[in-house]
Amino acid sequence: MPPAGFPRDPLANKGTAFSLQERERLGIEGRLPPRVETIEEQVARVLASVRAKPAPIDRYCDLAAVQCENETLFYRALIDHLEELLPVVYTPTVGQACLDWSRIYQRPRGLYVTPRDRGRIAQMLRHWPRSQVGVIVVADGGRILGLGDLGANGMGIPIGKLALYVACAGVDPARCLPVALDVGTDTAAVRDDPLYLGLRQPRLAGADYDALVEEFVVAAQEVFPGVLVQFEDFANVNAFRLLARYKHRVCCFNDDIQGTGAMGLAGIHAALRITGGSLAAQRFLFFGAGEANIGIGTIVVAALKRAGLSDADARSRCWFIDSQGLVTTARPQLAEHKRAFAQDHAPLADLLSIVEAFRPTMLIGASGQPGAFTDAVLAAMARINERPVIFALSNPTSKAECTAEQAYRATGGRAVLATGSPFAPVTLEGRTYATGQANNSYIFPGVGLAALTAGLRRITDEMYFAAAQALAAQVSDDDLRSGRIFPPASRMREVAAAVATAVAEVGYAQGLAQEPQPADLAAHIRRSMYRGDYAPP
Ligand code: NAI
Repeated sequence: MPPAGFPRDPLANKGTAFSLQERERLGIEGRLPPRVETIEEQVARVLASVRAKPAPIDRYCDLAAVQCENETLFYRALIDHLEELLPVVYTPTVGQACLDWSRIYQRPRGLYVTPRDRGRIAQMLRHWPRSQVGVIVVADGGRILGLGDLGANGMGIPIGKLALYVACAGVDPARCLPVALDVGTDTAAVRDDPLYLGLRQPRLAGADYDALVEEFVVAAQEVFPGVLVQFEDFANVNAFRLLARYKHRVCCFNDDIQGTGAMGLAGIHAALRITGGSLAAQRFLFFGAGEANIGIGTIVVAALKRAGLSDADARSRCWFIDSQGLVTTARPQLAEHKRAFAQDHAPLADLLSIVEAFRPTMLIGASGQPGAFTDAVLAAMARINERPVIFALSNPTSKAECTAEQAYRATGGRAVLATGSPFAPVTLEGRTYATGQANNSYIFPGVGLAALTAGLRRITDEMYFAAAQALAAQVSDDDLRSGRIFPPASRMREVAAAVATAVAEVGYAQGLAQEPQPADLAAHIRRSMYRGDYAPP
């Protein structure tokens, strides 16, 4: 028999960490430099290489190359340097990666499913080389971050999200499958790019689109029974409908709606520890009435009702603004997802006059409209509130409703701020203000870990409630003192373990967990977390 040679599976590769005996067994003696390295030494080289690249997109490509070659090393580097590398593999750099996808593409990763594949999607899933898939992140490229319809270039998002599942929550990388549903794109600039790799056709819609998604969801369950399906970055015209259709049928969630909801509620709870108010006394102004803000609004209404408010009272505390102005009952043809939040109020168009009319305690932006929180809006929030709560959630950084510096400057340093992308600390008049990153990466990895370890059959609203509480409890007094209402990224893994434990507990209580309940759930979950170690020689 000829020697086996280098393993083809990047999860089995160790590169320079192969021992001399392994090199002999594989028949690769002489094909690696003589020195046998530890994974720590390899990580040091990865970091040196990444740090030497001045442009974020080049750092992204550098790490992507490591992932294609040696996945264990990629994850160990990520796990050990989360705070530094998360912005490289995920937001904000992933936005640029998707915009540049056609140019930076080198090696295939993940599965592409198109309308041409109707009737044989299950067969394609069976071709996936790893049989133990437990979580699929699927994107149709319809609304990539705040960047719009990028078609098949959106593949960067499922790949990035799954890297976070592994790095933040220790989900086994062998169990992760990124999927791009390439249904075409309506963005002419993407379609007409000579290097574009996706289908050059207008976006599929209507019954044909729904039938493709249906076949995919059914096939996924057939080939990988019980698999968790995370719907990611679907445009809101599809996202709400698909979530309603599948949430009670299979183990699935929409991170943009539900994950953002739980993350937002956690941030609100943490912010209240600074402002000192009660939840029931808050007035929430949502700028943007899409998946993210409707997700937060929905769970906030549930939380207000738990705090004793009637449904009508709770909804009257949540005003929404979309591209047409205040969402009111008088507006014709209001989209279904906005209707439950429409206010019986005269039309109001601009944000500043709505702030003056409603006098919110919290202003939550998820609109993809950069600079929408002007100095005048921020100053008005600071006039109305001693400690105005400002969330500028839009991603990537170029889409943020305001920068950290603008928010702190315009409010005289009184803003309680969270932003979707990371911002460097801001120094004003000798005082330094940190900003917590409000990102659902605090939530979905833990939800996924719970689904896999407990064998959850469904992901319920109660689980998201528990996830929000677990995340809020992870915000320390020190975090709050430094201005952060979310924990630093360096504590992501502790957060994910806590979220996973809380979610799995609800799963057991609701009878939705298929795995036997361990005596010490928290310890069981922590033990199950992947750490990026090579298999023993
Ligand atoms: P979406 O497309 O569903 O909603 C966008 C909303 O903004 C729509 O209601 C639209 O009418 C509104 N809008 C657009 N122009 C406007 C204007 N000029 N004035 C007022 N409203 C306007 O998008 P989705 O999923 O809600 O995401 C929005 C943003 O939030 C994106 O940038 C996304 O990256 C970000 N996001 C951030 C998260 C985080 O973890 N920080 C999580 C989820 C989303």
